[in-house]
Amino acid sequence: MLIAGNWKMNMDVPEGRALAQVIADRLSTHSHSFDGVDFAICPPFVHLQSVIDAVDSVPVAVGAQDMHAEDEGAYTGDVSAPMLTSVGCHYVILGHSERREYYDETDADVNRKVKQAQVHDLVPIVCVGETLEQRESGEAASVVRAQVDGALADVSIEDPGGLVVAYEPVWAIGTGESAAPEQAQEMHAVIRGDLTERYGAAVAANVPLLYGGSMKPHNAYGLLSQPDIDGGLIGSASLQADRFLGIAEEAESVLKETTS
Ligand code: 13P
Repeated sequence: MLIAGNWKMNMDVPEGRALAQVIADRLSTHSHSFDGVDFAICPPFVHLQSVIDAVDSVPVAVGAQDMHAEDEGAYTGDVSAPMLTSVGCHYVILGHSERREYYDETDADVNRKVKQAQVHDLVPIVCVGETLEQRESGEAASVVRAQVDGALADVSIEDPGGLVVAYEPVWAIGTGESAAPEQAQEMHAVIRGDLTERYGAAVAANVPLLYGGSMKPHNAYGLLSQPDIDGGLIGSASLQADRFLGIAEEAESVLKETTS
């Protein structure tokens, strides 16, 4: 189970460092073992170094929220994959709906970045998800399938640890209204099916599929107990240690339940 925080464009560097430090302290002293729960934090670029330093002694991976598809060059304002690996990033979020909406990122852009991430051994967290309008017109599954196909065109995956897919319905992001567990499961099953066709059942079954969109401690258990939901990509609730770790506690409960 992967519990990943997407801090988006929040907090200054001292605030981010302090939050990462609280999370690290709680993980090293917590009464919960968080057995089977993997953690990731994806802060803004300027926070990466201080967050990586803060979580140095605990098993928390760090990721970026985007990157450029080229190694280097005259791309003012951009950050490359080699830069991310040089500070110690493990993950990179790609194709978040906010980047698709505000920066017109296309599936082809996401595809180029996924390939670039692979070249540099960064694990892409590929985000897909339909708008409310698309859901209401019955297109949710076809839209999400097209996004998965677009992002993964000509991408081969042999190690399921080399890819994460996050289903984030646009209408659930930042609205306080998460998808119902059954709704989310239905879409995760579509994504799992698509990955199975592409990479075979053995790989597809082990690619972590995260749900994102107003996941909070109070709704996490229902979502995380669905068979094809392997974790969460958490926005606003990841900005407070109590809520972020509260979701991780729910993940731990789900894991205990399924193994008992
Ligand atoms: P919220 O949890 O704030 O809805 O954000 C979800 C998200 O976009 C994570 O990438």
